Amino acid sequence: MSDINRYRRIRRYTPGERTNHWIIALTFILLALSGLALFHPSLYWLTNLFGGGPWTRILHPFIGLVMFVCFFVFAIHMWRHNLLTKNDRQWLRQLDDVMDNREDRLPEVGKYNAGQKLLFFVLVLCMLGLFASGIVIWREYFAFYFPIGVIRAASVLHAVCALVLICAIIVHIYAAIWVKGSLTAMLRGFVTAGWAWKHHRAWFREQIRK
Ligand code: HEM
Repeated sequence: MSDINRYRRIRRYTPGERTNHWIIALTFILLALSGLALFHPSLYWLTNLFGGGPWTRILHPFIGLVMFVCFFVFAIHMWRHNLLTKNDRQWLRQLDDVMDNREDRLPEVGKYNAGQKLLFFVLVLCMLGLFASGIVIWREYFAFYFPIGVIRAASVLHAVCALVLICAIIVHIYAAIWVKGSLTAMLRGFVTAGWAWKHHRAWFREQIRK
């Protein structure tokens, strides 16, 4: 199917990209629940979702590896669309227009706006931090290679990255619901021409040129 079909819908994501994104979303939820269960005794009851404490501890790092690999495959696909441009810096200076939905006053936006791009790099940093610290604190296979001080520091880094990631994903989900039509992009793969014109005009022009 072509990128712009006869119903004037524009393809935004391929089936492979969408499948990958939803695997990341699912593994993220499993990781947040199992991670919080291991983080504080008051949340230990969450281990019931994973078959008890030992199973939670076994499964958490393996699910983490799946999320990390899927995320980086996805991130490599999205990388070039997330590089900041001069227009993005101007967009950031006009945040009040963004918040008040005065999109007509903003510079034309490419595939992603500056907010999405900044969030993208926060996600990349959190993923790298979680992966590196997660390896250091993975008792079964790697922790014995590191001194106790490094393991302690890695535990703190792991918790900080997880907290930032959870907050970033709450913002991400809020934005996905706030900008009507975005969820359809990730669920069905297509957006309407009107949506693209309103929210991502430079990207719309690029698709039309193609
Ligand atoms: C769990 C609920 C989630 C929902 C409802 C959701 C929704 C969406 C939607 C609607 C888009 C398309 C935005 C657009 O095309 O303008 C998108 C893109 C994206 N999502 Fe999610 N998402 C979720 C979880 C996640 C998670 C857990 C991650 C990674 C940790 C993630 C990473 C991304 C990335 C990297 C993009 C592309 C945006 C960019 O490259 O700047 N999402 N998501």
